[in-house]
Amino acid sequence: MDLLRRPRRNRKSAAIRDLVQENTLSVSDLILPMFIVEGEGVKSEVASMPGVYRRSLDLLLEEIKECVDLGMKAFDLFPNLPEAKKDKYATEGHNPDGLYLRAIAEIKNKFPEVALMTDAAMDPYSSDGHDGLVRESASGIEILNDETLEILGKMALAQARAGADIIGPSDMMDGRVAYIRELLDSEGFAHVSIMAYTAKYASAFYGPFRDALDSAPRFGDKKTYQMNPANSREALVEAELDYLEGADFLMVKPALAYLDIIKLLNDNFNVPIAAYNISGEYSMIKAAASNGWIDGERAMLEVLMSMKRAGAKVILTYFAKEVALLNQ
Ligand code: PBG
Repeated sequence: MDLLRRPRRNRKSAAIRDLVQENTLSVSDLILPMFIVEGEGVKSEVASMPGVYRRSLDLLLEEIKECVDLGMKAFDLFPNLPEAKKDKYATEGHNPDGLYLRAIAEIKNKFPEVALMTDAAMDPYSSDGHDGLVRESASGIEILNDETLEILGKMALAQARAGADIIGPSDMMDGRVAYIRELLDSEGFAHVSIMAYTAKYASAFYGPFRDALDSAPRFGDKKTYQMNPANSREALVEAELDYLEGADFLMVKPALAYLDIIKLLNDNFNVPIAAYNISGEYSMIKAAASNGWIDGERAMLEVLMSMKRAGAKVILTYFAKEVALLNQ
């Protein structure tokens, strides 16, 4: 055959393949989400997320130490609260003596060099299991927007005071990036970053995370605030707002079913794009691998690389430590 162009030449050996490889996955791209729970010596596995644990602060600090020794630098913390600590107003979310804020301070005290991301949303603390304040009336339930912002502001400020490096408002309320930015700036925290949950979709893949936090909505669903999976142009509206409101990163969540959205935002905005490789995406790979149906390690690396290829600079993933271990 008289073929002038033979693309296989660039695939003929490992050395050549490495030479022409367009994207890379590095441990420094990754943020590990972790779950904290009250108590001491507690390490309880999330049933729907094999290999992921809720840890008490003492064991969490040990785990972070191991991760740091593997070269990991960024962590995102979520609290699992007992039902008795939850209320309609998510009050515990800004209690300076509460588990979450104490943990943030302690982590930053022990590991000042790590980038610690914190979560500003009501759901872990809400007795309604919603991300916003719920108003019940004869016509049904309503998730209030502007009233929620005040609560988010208190949480974000308390987290900044405790030492958070990056605040992640994860609730999809309108105007929250601007509200939190202005508040942080006026209180002397202009250096604290905001990673906007820009395009967060109403997804079936959040199930295992809600198991981890016992945070599933007690009624209704999240469709009046999280986005419709059918939409992509709407993600540009959200991104433009978050960008103009001062967001330092724009996040897409989930990641795997939304690679087109990652690319869309990366093509249109010049701030780093983050992808949240969420709980259900993790659990699917773990489940199929434990059945022997797929090679879990290769599948993990392939999906994480797909996110990089789509344009994510940063990936939040429960696989972060496994990737770091492979790189040893
Ligand atoms: C809500 C929140 C969610 C996740 C983190 N914060 C989704 C939800 O429960 O609606 C999901 C993360 C994951 O699934 O890994 N503030």
